[in-house]
Amino acid sequence: MVEYLDDPRLITAERLRGGFFEGWPAPPSVERHLEILRGSEVAVIAVDGASGDAVGFVTAVGDGVLSAFIPLLEVLPAWRGQRIGSELVRRVLARLGGRYAIDLVCDPELVPFYERLGGLGGTAVMWRSRGDATGNQT
Ligand SMILES: CC(C)(COP(=O)(O)OP(=O)(O)OC[C@H]1O[C@@H](n2cnc3c(N)ncnc32)[C@H](O)[C@@H]1OP(=O)(O)O)[C@@H](O)C(=O)NCCC(=O)NCCS
Repeated sequence: MVEYLDDPRLITAERLRGGFFEGWPAPPSVERHLEILRGSEVAVIAVDGASGDAVGFVTAVGDGVLSAFIPLLEVLPAWRGQRIGSELVRRVLARLGGRYAIDLVCDPELVPFYERLGGLGGTAVMWRSRGDATGNQT
């Protein structure tokens, strides 16, 4: 059974070692992953109730009043297709509580996933540093 943690202080680096940031050329370390969770305005973590290991997470950063952005959502491959991703999105939206603007950027094929959760497809402008997310200086 999957449980959802609203407080990232309840998760340890040891519980984040399942292989998040799939496909990233230089993914953050688990310690940086923990920093990301703890530095976000809202973080929800899906946990395997049997082992306590994290199987998914979502983060939101925002101004606390009008706006928020959802930079990261991921469910470990073995746990996909069980509505965990949808539940994480529902929970982060509920925590953000009707903010005027909640934005995220995704690949076109994922737009229907977010539309089913009430999102509106649109256009976006973005800046990306495609290099190293590990925190090591390059
Ligand atoms: C996107 C993601 C979080 C969905 O998690 P999940 O727990 O499998 O999601 P759910 O079970 O709630 O929903 C699955 C639905 O989303 C659709 N979906 C998931 N990933 C998709 C993708 N990359 N392209 C198209 N559809 C996708 C599935 O087809 C499925 O639809 P269905 O119910 O009609 O079959 C997960 O696939 C993931 O971690 N992907 C890699 C990271 C990523 O792309 N994150 C989003 C960044 S914007």
